Amino acid sequence: MCGIFGCVCKKENVAPLIRKGLKRLEYRGYDSVGEATIKDGKLFIKKDAGKIDEVHKKCNLDDLPGRIGVGHTRWATHGAPSSINAHPQFDCSSPPRFAVVHNGIIDNFAELKKELEEKGHVFKSKTDTEVIAHLIEEHFVQKPQADARKTVAKTGISKLEEAVSKSLSQLDGSYALAAISTYEPDKIVCARNESPLVLGISENGQFFASDIPAFLPLTKNAIFMRNGELAVLKDDSFTIKNISDQRIILREPKLLDWTPEMAEKKGYTHFMLKEIHEQPEALRNTLRLQDKYLDLLTTFLDRAHEVIMVACGTSYHACLAASYMFSKVSYLATHPVIASEFSEQHSRSANIDSTILAVSQSGETADTLAAVETARQRAATILGLTNVVGSTLTRVSRVYIVQQSGPEIGVAATKTFTSQLSVLSQLAIQLAKKRGKISTEEIDLLEDKIQLIPEMVEQIIESQESKVSSLAKKLRDEKCFFFLGRGISVATALEARLKLMELAYVPSIAFPAGESKHGPISLIQEGFPVFFICPPGETRKTLIGNISEMKAREANIITVCEEGDEEIIQLSDDYIEVPRGLPEVLSPITYVVPLQIFAYRMATEKGYSPDMPRNLAKSVTVR
Ligand code: AGP
Ligand code: GLU
Repeated sequence: MCGIFGCVCKKENVAPLIRKGLKRLEYRGYDSVGEATIKDGKLFIKKDAGKIDEVHKKCNLDDLPGRIGVGHTRWATHGAPSSINAHPQFDCSSPPRFAVVHNGIIDNFAELKKELEEKGHVFKSKTDTEVIAHLIEEHFVQKPQADARKTVAKTGISKLEEAVSKSLSQLDGSYALAAISTYEPDKIVCARNESPLVLGISENGQFFASDIPAFLPLTKNAIFMRNGELAVLKDDSFTIKNISDQRIILREPKLLDWTPEMAEKKGYTHFMLKEIHEQPEALRNTLRLQDKYLDLLTTFLDRAHEVIMVACGTSYHACLAASYMFSKVSYLATHPVIASEFSEQHSRSANIDSTILAVSQSGETADTLAAVETARQRAATILGLTNVVGSTLTRVSRVYIVQQSGPEIGVAATKTFTSQLSVLSQLAIQLAKKRGKISTEEIDLLEDKIQLIPEMVEQIIESQESKVSSLAKKLRDEKCFFFLGRGISVATALEARLKLMELAYVPSIAFPAGESKHGPISLIQEGFPVFFICPPGETRKTLIGNISEMKAREANIITVCEEGDEEIIQLSDDYIEVPRGLPEVLSPITYVVPLQIFAYRMATEKGYSPDMPRNLAKSVTVR
């Protein structure tokens, strides 16, 4: 889940560009950092355990010389976070000749390492990545630079490119990687299989990165690399090839409409807070989706014999909410499945009549992509919902929708969750129109209400933020919380609990309120904090019963309810109000917002960084 970034430029001193680019990728992993540049035929290296700013403070990453370099911010999979295990990884020579940065996992690294050791290679790190550097060294028949140039003239393939290609053919696993060598100091060779890799193309030089924000201030021309492709970058050109047959691939850069400011904090203390505040705008963007895409996607949903929704984490909660929306609004039964469980649960039953709706903010989550792949092999139809144009999910989907939330940098999903819900509810409404199961009045009402959501979210942020912050102050030392709801609010409860747990490290429980009596209520003692999600609608009456049961046992009742819902307010020790008038089936989109703020404030109250919770990474590209 690391972030890789590097460039080859016309001007000197690329090290500060690389550090700043890595900083914008730090959401992908932040346990160690490293850079290598080349100048006058020599590699210059700095790397260490720690976050980018810490390492930079200690050893000034910016004074590495040269016009070419590669960098890495790590989320360790093999080998503890340490200076030796930080990337770049190198070959045997001293000083090293080859430097490699890598995101992914090399499944067969142990066998390769053994073979290479038998040939005399000496390994320094515990990473899987190091085998790549040694393989390249092994395949690169060491010749002086002049000979390397002759080879290019003869075959069109440089020695470095050839050595990287041969090495790639031996690798099993996932990678986005880049290699540089002092033998050919004018180029970067990068390649992709299953981990994200995007090129930034400019007149001043070429860039590679795990994600767009890394080079957004430098260029808006991007090329998304696909699995099985390799690119050779030079300061004035780039070539993309198919790794297996070396066929040249012509692909024009796409002009991005993201601004660098979109990826900056805009004066907020944390990205997460900024992204919570960006929700009204992100939601407005989802209302501008073209009907033809919604229509196409619902045509597939309508025809399917079974619809399985696959996703992880927050995206799974969006699917869970969507399963209620599809069932209530469009009379379509769907199965939300946690992607990592899909193969075990459905690999036999999925078939040509199955439709898989994969939901992934990043479009790169390994578990989700693996579920999609299993389903594809069984001839199922794949539909996608993602936030990232050009992501793997968009390429493997028969039809996909891009939710247009803009980059989300905070590790916790916020604006992308509410936007997913907005798109999914529009799909449910569109499908209802096709199926004619609910009246046109009901459809019109839902369509009118959905338009009001951005403004409602704006109101919640404006009117409830300080109240929620005081609540977090009051509850900061609680050791455990319950989050309860009924019906579609179970998804809201699960999401609120995930936010609190991942950011403030408070172990908590969320489940359908009706389940309390079947066990969990035994945990309740005087003052135990229990959140209830109480939208108006068919679940409210029974939920009031559930609140009363908890109250009778002296739990501390905190409710999220509709403005002025006196009956609920009377039962509450504390309450958060949400604007009136949204049907229950759309309620997760607004009711989750104060709970996101609560988790954010709980984290900051406790002195934790909500943007970079421990052990987590934004995009989970390993299984
Ligand atoms: C939630 O805040 C995240 N930490 C995480 O659960 C995330 O939602 C999950 O990894 C799925 O990511 P995706 O939407 O990019 O596939
Ligand atoms: N497997 C590599 C390492 O542990 C890269 C990790 C990753 O991309 O998550 O160094």
